[in-house]
Amino acid sequence: MPPASRPSTRCAVLVSGGGTNLQALLDAIDADPDFGGEVVVVGSDRRDAGGLERARGRGIPTVVQGLDDHADRTAWEAALRRDVEAHRPEVVVLAGFMRILSGAFLAGWPDRVVNTHPSLLPAFRGAHAVREALDHGVKVTGCTVHLVDEQVDHGPIVAQRAVEVVAGDTEDALHERIKAVEHELLPACVKLLCHDLVAVEGRVVHVREETP
Ligand code: GRF
Repeated sequence: MPPASRPSTRCAVLVSGGGTNLQALLDAIDADPDFGGEVVVVGSDRRDAGGLERARGRGIPTVVQGLDDHADRTAWEAALRRDVEAHRPEVVVLAGFMRILSGAFLAGWPDRVVNTHPSLLPAFRGAHAVREALDHGVKVTGCTVHLVDEQVDHGPIVAQRAVEVVAGDTEDALHERIKAVEHELLPACVKLLCHDLVAVEGRVVHVREETP
């Protein structure tokens, strides 16, 4: 573990929805004096994202750039990047952020943009992972925390956890059980990034024991 004097790693969190994963991250930071990170800004593509309220309630700065407010995706993404960069984050956490980010955005934080996805990747990429897993009839699904590359739900996998499908499951019920697991896994992975313990070799993530 790093010395106590190591500065706290600055994290940005991007949300599009209710923000329960953001909440879990904030709670984990509060509960763990050795977390090694702080949330310095919460960004969204949606003015009504519940995650923004959670941030404001904690006095965390928020930034919003709606896709419709810009001429095209390039202009939207550039505006979002500018707003996020103004807070000098070292790690960017996608916590239910439902937009694809291009290489131009990701280049600002190589191997330091992390996403949580509600399936065991590479199965069921995309926005309807829970429904598609149910429709496919899988008996086990789960969640994946991965580094973000230019393809959707594709980058190197940091950690995964399984969740069993039970008879009579609905999409909502299964998603809630997956989210409960995400709420532990995402903060644990962000902590690794904050301590600079995540190394990438090709597609494979190695978790180092000691900070370099
Ligand atoms: C999570 O299941 C995440 O994996 C998916 O959307 C959900 C976001 O939930 N992309 P919340 O906004 O954190 O509550």
